[in-house]
Amino acid sequence: MSEEGIAKLIRSDLVAFGGYTPGKSPETVAEKVKLPVEGIIKLDANENPYGCSPRVKQALGSYLYFNIYPDAEQTELRKLLQGYTGVGAEHIVASSGSDQLIDLVLRLFVAPGDEVINCVPTFDMFRFSTALCNGKLVEVPRDENYFIDVAAVKKAIGKKTKMIVLANPNNPTATPISRQDILELVDTGVPVMADEAYVEFSGETVTPLVSQYKNLMVLRTFSKWAGLAGLRIGYGIFPPQIAGYLLRIKNPYSVNIAAYVAVRESLKDIDYLRDRVRAIVAERERLFGELKKLKWLKPFPSQANFIFCHVLNGKASQIQQELERRGILVRYFDLPLLKNSLRISVGKPEHTDALMKALKEIGEK
Ligand SMILES: Cc1ncc(COP(=O)(O)O)c(C=O)c1O
Repeated sequence: MSEEGIAKLIRSDLVAFGGYTPGKSPETVAEKVKLPVEGIIKLDANENPYGCSPRVKQALGSYLYFNIYPDAEQTELRKLLQGYTGVGAEHIVASSGSDQLIDLVLRLFVAPGDEVINCVPTFDMFRFSTALCNGKLVEVPRDENYFIDVAAVKKAIGKKTKMIVLANPNNPTATPISRQDILELVDTGVPVMADEAYVEFSGETVTPLVSQYKNLMVLRTFSKWAGLAGLRIGYGIFPPQIAGYLLRIKNPYSVNIAAYVAVRESLKDIDYLRDRVRAIVAERERLFGELKKLKWLKPFPSQANFIFCHVLNGKASQIQQELERRGILVRYFDLPLLKNSLRISVGKPEHTDALMKALKEIGEK
């Protein structure tokens, strides 16, 4: 059969689907710029520069039962997460990264043609997963400082609205959403999914409110604060009724054993990991101060482990390229709602020093 023939058989709404644009791997960049991979400074994916707890590496090296399927009901894992979040296990569902829960939650609520309200610019997986459900994304622009417009969101609610998605703090702008704003939207009765991927860096959560509302859901991850992005482990906190549905529609073994062991060991090493989070928050403030000194960048205050900047003079894409040539990876945007801007993850102090040296050289050109 010809390629056109196959395309005719594929869901018509997915034929032109654009997909998600992930960052490049350090190996790919190292080869491109002819630098050793160990020399690459990766500030493009909001990962943890300190890695995971040493206990995780040790426990995985000596684990004996990789031949056994994981527990589909996640009983022990959900108990561990109960201990960490302070919320009963009946509220919790874990997943292979919080990305997977975004997908599952939308699949649970959104049928073809249903609407999802998205406060743009924001994390692209909300668009991605809505499209996979053949849902309709209703985009409500944020204000000039990237705060959500609660009145406009409420106005956008219609008969077909099935979900309001909110990243708190937002990616890529690192902007927080106040508890009051979230509750005003929860009070509309529309299901609200608050994605708190960066909560350990912001300290602001609506988790304790989930038990009081039937339509509030919170997503979390171990990718950022615990340095487990490569093992793919996220979880959500839901009203028990929704958690029950999600447990039924999820892939039985979506959380692998290595991720379970990694969570168990990370939570045993929580003081170590919290120290690392404090170091990242302190470095974020130093990086913000340093970026502010460059007259051609406008950094925005951050509640996460990255800083979003407008490029006031020059081209973000060129700056990203110049940094890449020096082995420093950052993300750039040049989209209608994210014009000429950079997102820089917070690294170790030596990463900040290397980045600032490179930015100063680039600025002098
Ligand atoms: C707002 C937001 N939600 C979710 C995720 C995905 O995290 P995970 O690695 O758990 O899939 C990210 C990752 O960048 C994010 O920025």
